[in-house]
Order: sequence, then C-alpha cells, then structure tokens
Amino acid sequence: MNNFVFYSPTEFVFGKDTEQQAGALARKFGAHKVMIVYGGGSAVKSGLLERVRHSLDAAGLPYCEMGGVQPNPVDTKVYEGIDVCKREQADLMLAVGGGSVIDTAKAIAAGACYEGDFWDFFIGRATVKTALKVGVVLTIPAAGSEGSGNSVITKTATLQKLSLRTPAALRPVFSILNPELTYTLPPFQTACGICDMMIHILERYFTNTPDVEIADRLCEGTLMAIMKEAYRVKQHPDDYGARANLMWCGMIAHNGTCGVGCEEDWASHFMEHEVSAIYGVTHGAGLATIVPAWMTFMAGHHPEKVAQLGNRVFSIAETDDKEEMALQTVARLKHFFRYLGLPVSFRELGIEHPDIDRLVESLHRNKGEQVGNYVKLTREDTRAIYQLAEV
Ligand code: NZQ
Ligand code: ZN
Repeated sequence: MNNFVFYSPTEFVFGKDTEQQAGALARKFGAHKVMIVYGGGSAVKSGLLERVRHSLDAAGLPYCEMGGVQPNPVDTKVYEGIDVCKREQADLMLAVGGGSVIDTAKAIAAGACYEGDFWDFFIGRATVKTALKVGVVLTIPAAGSEGSGNSVITKTATLQKLSLRTPAALRPVFSILNPELTYTLPPFQTACGICDMMIHILERYFTNTPDVEIADRLCEGTLMAIMKEAYRVKQHPDDYGARANLMWCGMIAHNGTCGVGCEEDWASHFMEHEVSAIYGVTHGAGLATIVPAWMTFMAGHHPEKVAQLGNRVFSIAETDDKEEMALQTVARLKHFFRYLGLPVSFRELGIEHPDIDRLVESLHRNKGEQVGNYVKLTREDTRAIYQLAEV
C-alpha cells in the first residue's frame, strides 16, 4: 500500500426531506449570500428549487440564481456564473442538481476568487489557492461530485473536456442527499449513473499496487451492492431503500475511500471524456462502451485484476487461464449494462462512424503520450481500444 493523505471534510446530510436544511447548512458554513446553480429544468419541475428557496428564506439568507447548466457542462456557462457571482457578491455556491451543475458551481467558486481566466486551472497553468464554499443538493447519484474535489468542464471553442482535481479547495462543505429526489430520473439517466459509479470504483480497482486488500474488498463489496440495488431500482423505481443505497454508493465510489493507497488508473475516463466532448453523449453511456473494450484489451495484455474481479464479483470460476476469465468478466459486465438499457458499443451509442484518428489525437494531446497506469497506453493501444468499442 502506498503512502496517502485522505482528507474528506464534507458534511453529508442524508435522508427524506433533507433539502429543507439547505438554508441552515449554508448559514452554518458562514454564507452571507448564496448563489443557487441549477440545470435545465428538472429541479424547477419537481418543485425542489422552490423548496430550496424557502429554506434559504427561512434561514434569512439572501440569494441569487443561475439556471440552464447543460449536461457535459461548458466554459461559457462558468464565465456567465462568475459574472453573476461577482456582481451579486455571493459567497457560497449552492449546486442543486447532478455532476454537471456541481462541477459548474465548483468552477465558478474557484474562478470568482481568481484574477485570471478560470480555464488556467484546467490546463495546469494555475492552481486553485482559494475558492468560495460549495454546498450541494444532489438529484442524481452518478458523478460523485458531491463528495469529490473534482470538476469536469468542456471548453466549447476547442471541445476539450478536462478535469480539475483540487480536493483541499473544492470538496463541497456540505452535501444534501435525499434519495426521494431521484424518483423522477428517467431510467436511462439512472442507468448511466449506475455505470459511472461502477467505473469510478474500477478506475481504482485496476491497480498494480501490492497489498491493497482493504481497497480491493471495499471496491468489490460496493460493486456488488450497486449491482444488487440496480436490479431493484430497475424493477421498482420508487423503492426508497434501493434508491438510498445507490445514492450512498455513488458517493463512496468517488470520494477516494475505495482507492486509498493505490495508484489509480483513469484511462477509461480520459478516453470517454473525448467521446462525450466530441459527440455530446452522456458520460455514463460513453463509459459503458469504453470500459468493456478497455477490459477486453487487458485480457490480452494484463488480465490478472480483471480475472480477480470476475471471480470475486461475477462468480466466475478460478482457473489458470486468466485471459479466459477476463473475457468472461467482460461478457458478464456487458450483459449487466445491456440489462440496464445501456449501449455497449459506439454503434449502439449512435456513433456509426467514429472519427478514431481525432479521438486518439485529442486524447494524447490532452493527456500526454501515455495514458493510464494499470497498463500505460500508447497511441497504438488507445486506437486499438477505440476500435474494440466500435461494434
Ligand atoms: O438539467 P436537468 O433538467 O436537471 O436534467 C438533468 C440532466 O439532463 C437530469 N436530472 C438530474 N437529476 C434529475 C434529472 N432529471 C430528473 N430528475 C432528477 N432528479 O439528468 C441529466 C444528467 O445530469 P448531469 O448532471 O449531467 O448528470 P451526472 O451527475 O451524470 O453528471 C455528468 C457530468 O459529470 C462529469 C461528467 O463527465 C459529466 O460532465 N463527471 C464529473 C466528475 C466529478 N466532478 O468528480 C467525475 C465523473 O467521472 C464525471 O466525469
Ligand atoms: Zn465518471
């Protein structure tokens, strides 16, 4: 196990009606004026936004608002938000939504405290030294942004989708998780969220770091919980217990718990970010096509951990033929994704003629000549994986 620092100071408030505590929590964390950030309308339609406003009123906190954040959030919305935030002198960002809304709120929180262009943080030209506080009312378990210090934004002019990791400055100070808020999710978004949280675990699980039994077992146990609850939610979308378990799994999957002491991989995420940047697909659906292809590639190059996953999570019999075990694991994972209604190839995703040259070029321009850690992937490797994802 490698040395690590694990600092995760977010206060999680979990359960029914907890959005009513948004105002009290914002006040507790020192807000004088709150900026509510929300998405394309689901929070308006469900009445959630109105309940959050009431909660702020009840706490005597003034607020301003910015709606209209789109999935795969973009830099132009962040610039707009920074302007609103500065003009209104807001000092706490309250994200009401999913990963796209939360990531936009985080980027505004960092950008509003910086003289230069917030994009500098995403391209490594500057580091976030100080940021406004961020609070969250989560509406979809998926990205895990409610417990992470990450933000993922796309620059519209270049279609670069890049992530910023600043746990110390950008982890939310509080996150409200009410599973009932997820009843209104379309089944496809529920499925994409389930896939995303599973892959957040696998990016940590696929490691060469020795002696990480605790991380392995946390990963395997959480994956098994997700899959069990996914079946329940598919059959009964209003099952509170299943929704509650999934919501907490989504947080555990990405706040760092499952990867402490491990060298993490993240190649699949970087490869997918190119797909959602260029083709505008939902991140979780993009992952459902890339990860089986990545694992198929690993079956022929470094099958051990894929085989272990198959044995411990998918009950695949242990044999000396690790490649075959890994391939069986891929088949089981694809079967599960299909059951959820997810695409497992570019064709099923609606991308008939993927521009693989462009995907490879953009990936390595953004992430360097080698991508990932479980196997350090060259251009030739990533091309092979994109090709495996085609059909
Ligand atoms: O915009 P609205 O109208 O709210 O609709 C959203 C959106 O269309 C809808 N939705 C959310 N909650 C709902 C709901 N519809 C009905 N009822 C509800 N309760 O769902 C759609 C997707 O929302 P989005 O916020 O985009 O989903 P998600 O949480 O999956 O976030 C995806 C983004 O997060 C990034 C992804 O790349 C993508 O850009 N990621 C962020 C990470 C992080 N910050 O740590 C890590 C991830 O790996 C990921 O890359
Ligand atoms: Zn993800």
